[in-house]
Amino acid sequence: MTNECPQHIAAIMDGNGRWAKERGLARIAGHREGAESLRVVLKVAAEFGVKYLTVYAFSTENWRRPQEEVDFLMELFSNTIDNEIDELMENQVKLNFLGRLSKFSDELRKKMEAAMEKTKNNKRITLNVMVNYGSRAEIVDAVQAIIDKGQKKVEEDTISQHLYTAGIPDPDLLIRTASEMRVSNFLLWQIAYAEIYVTPTLWPDFRREQLIEAMAAYQKRVRKFGKTEDQLNAA
Ligand code: FPP
Repeated sequence: MTNECPQHIAAIMDGNGRWAKERGLARIAGHREGAESLRVVLKVAAEFGVKYLTVYAFSTENWRRPQEEVDFLMELFSNTIDNEIDELMENQVKLNFLGRLSKFSDELRKKMEAAMEKTKNNKRITLNVMVNYGSRAEIVDAVQAIIDKGQKKVEEDTISQHLYTAGIPDPDLLIRTASEMRVSNFLLWQIAYAEIYVTPTLWPDFRREQLIEAMAAYQKRVRKFGKTEDQLNAA
């Protein structure tokens, strides 16, 4: 074993639609089951001492999906907040919704903001749910904010500190389910040194055992951050 348990895991939760199709169900059934996977993954991650879990729940491109599916996802986010908030408090989970929240209905946005406010002092693990999120848009927003402040000198940290994820360490491990070998505009800046783990498992089937397997694969990776293996061994 070369690494500790990852401090920050990011996940592209892909394959909900395929999971449903394989069973002759509507796509929304895949999302419902995917929400259950998220519950399990959060619980197991917390048990193992992971401090941050960041998931791609809705991209800026996902508005193009059939209206019925978009409506269902909005309802799922809303119902999940209502149903899970007490358990998140009991388990000391800090919940963040990160992305361009202004595009959501007032009701949903207020619910997201209230959940963030309520859980903001929880310390065990942080769950970042990325919604109406696109990494390029996030970088553009960061650069614009820096310009608006009239700042003349920009360093890497300056950019990091203006992203939605300001103050959160970069992910150590990026998991993508359903075999897709793409990053899909997710955390482009933050995953510069992340280990990438792609699995054929569809997100609704990604549960305790699959997460443990992903973390074990991560622990076996040699993270070099640009150095040679000899340098690492000498350190
Ligand atoms: C990707 O699968 C999944 C999504 C775009 C939605 C993710 C949402 C959840 C897992 C629901 C739980 C989240 C919360 C915060 C309650 P896909 O639909 O692209 O699958 P496909 O590629 O097989 O069609």
